[in-house]
Formats: sequence, C-alpha cells, structure tokens
Amino acid sequence: MEYKVTLLPGDGIGPEVVAAGAEVLRAVGEKFGHKFEMSEALVGGIAIDETGNPLPEETLEMCRSGDAVLLGAVGGPKWSDPLAPVRPEQGLLGLRKGLGLFANIRPVKLFPALADASPLKPEIVQGVDLVIVRELTGGIYFGKPQEKQVTPDGKREALDTMRYNEDEVARLLHVAYQIARQRRRKVTSVDKANVLASSRLWREVAHEVAAQYPDVESEDVLVDACAMYLMRRPAGFDVIAAGNLFGDILSDEASMLAGSMGMLPSASLGEKPADGGTWFGMYEPVHGSAPDIAGKGIANPLATILSVAMMLRTSFGLAEEADAVERAVEQVLVDGYRTPDIMSEGMKQVGTAEMTGAVVKRI
Ligand code: IPM
Ligand code: MG
Repeated sequence: MEYKVTLLPGDGIGPEVVAAGAEVLRAVGEKFGHKFEMSEALVGGIAIDETGNPLPEETLEMCRSGDAVLLGAVGGPKWSDPLAPVRPEQGLLGLRKGLGLFANIRPVKLFPALADASPLKPEIVQGVDLVIVRELTGGIYFGKPQEKQVTPDGKREALDTMRYNEDEVARLLHVAYQIARQRRRKVTSVDKANVLASSRLWREVAHEVAAQYPDVESEDVLVDACAMYLMRRPAGFDVIAAGNLFGDILSDEASMLAGSMGMLPSASLGEKPADGGTWFGMYEPVHGSAPDIAGKGIANPLATILSVAMMLRTSFGLAEEADAVERAVEQVLVDGYRTPDIMSEGMKQVGTAEMTGAVVKRI
C-alpha cells in the first residue's frame, strides 16, 4: 500500500522532531514493504513569516489530499505579542476545524524505565495508563462572540463564549466509549456542572451516551476534583472525556505522570469511515515548540515517534508496524538512552539524532 503523509514541521523544535518521525516512517516502510509518500507544508509562525497567514490555503489543501498529517509544533516568543494581528496558534486551531478533527486522543502511559523521571512519587505513578479524549473543535476555543471591546465608560473588556450543542458532546463521548471498550472499560466524564450551563448539558448528554454502553463503567467528575485525583490516584483512571478547555489543561497536568511531556503522543481524529478505509488523522507530540531548546539538537523525539505509531495503527490499520515502533521505543529506554529532559544518573545522554537512530535500529 501507498500512504500519503503531510508533514507540518512548524516552529521551535517542530522541524527537528518531525524529521525524526519521518525517518522512522521511512524505516517502517523499508522493513514492512510500505510506501509512505511525504510532502511538507507551512503552518504556524514560519507560515506567518513567509506568507502572512498562519494557515495558508495551500497547506489545508495538501492536508486534505493526503491520508494523515504529522505535525511538529507551532508558536514561540517571536509571535507572541498579545497585540499581534495574527498568531501561530490560529494555524493549529484552523487545521483542527478545517479538517473536522473533533476528537483529540492523548494517551498517558508510564514506561517502567522512566518511573523515576516523574516529579511524583513512584508509588503514585506506578501503573498509570490512561487516555484523555479531548473535544477539539468546539467549546470556548471556538465559541462566538470572542472579542475585546471598550465599554461606554471607557474600560477595556474581553469575552469568550463557552458553547456546546448536544451533537458535539455526544460524538466525542462515543469516541471515548469506543476506546474504553478496547481497554479497561471505564469512562470518566469531566465537567463543571455545578457552575456552568454548558457543563450541565455535557453531563446530561454524557448520561444518555453512557446508557448505550452498559458494559462500560461511567462516572462524572468535576474538573477541579479531577485535577486533584490525577495527582492522588492517577492509576485509577482509564478513559477521561473532557471538553476543549478542560482537556487542554488536564492533559498538560497528566503529562507529568509519564515523566516528561517529551514522551506524549497524540492523535486528532474526525469521523471514522464506515467502510473500514483510511481514517484521516493528524498526529502530533503534546509538548509544543519549546523555543528555549530549538535548534540545539537535544529535543526528545520520542513523543513524535510514538505519534507515528498511533498514525500507523489508527489511520492505516498497521497494528504490527505500530507495535514494532512502540517496542523499539521501550527498548531504547531499557537500554539507557536518554535525552536531557528524561536524563537520570547512570544513563546515556543523547541528542535527537542519536535517539532517533537508536529507535530505527531496533525496529
Ligand atoms: C495543545 C496546545 C494548543 C491548544 C495551543 C498551542 C493552541 O496547548 O495542543 O494542547 O491549546 O490546544
Ligand atoms: Mg495544551
């Protein structure tokens, strides 16, 4: 089979980690006899610099014509002036919306070899294996109005709108339940129903969807309590379903359970095709552009490499190939290779290229 993958390196360490992901894809292609045709396009700050637009139409077109997207990261201090007319993040939000990627899947799994890399006590993080399913194209990130204005008495004010309709909530929860059925069969739906109307609708719909999955255990947890439980008993979670804002915040928090953000992959998916064909998705590391270490060759490529594994399994149905990539990552960790973000005493410190090479050798 031939698969078309669009590479969007973006900003900061994005180009370094996407190059690593592309190298792994090539290695998988050679080993298993697939062809991954890769082409590159602009998004984020670099797209602003070169075209004035964080998401050029050409980029969206290229993504649409392919089978999957591998994205690095967007943003950086160069483009973060709050008064700037365009921002790199608009490129990422535009991609999600423009490609209909409403479900963001963020697995958080502790590799046993990294148990000491987490800032939390080993007995707390032991056995952590959860998935955050975050709604990605609605809620307060997209609700209108969103604006800054001056009131009649001359004060500046700004507002955002948190809006969800029942279909947006239901389709996200169905994804969460389907994932739970392939795991430990538990879904935690997160909201702030004690305060927000949009959360009360979320909970109402969550219960309707839950009733369709009697084989899966369901619970509701308020977002503030969820933040606390993630620190107190993280191993008790299986699938966490949350709206756009809550999922964004909880997934950064949860990343610390795995030792480093440099380890966490993600998939952003749209509707699953009924015919079992390619399931279009965008795959990206959770860590962001890390401008402080960009260009130094020390970024951890493993989150991107694990994102490639998710792409192989989810979009292309290549489970054996995905397993091979994940096993190779596990093995480099067991063999002691560490980028600086996960370095600990007695281990071999390496940079991006050496880490990638070590993974490729083990595929
Ligand atoms: C993420 C990031 C993005 C988000 C930013 C870069 C817009 O934090 O993917 O979690 O808020 O969704
Ligand atoms: Mg985030």
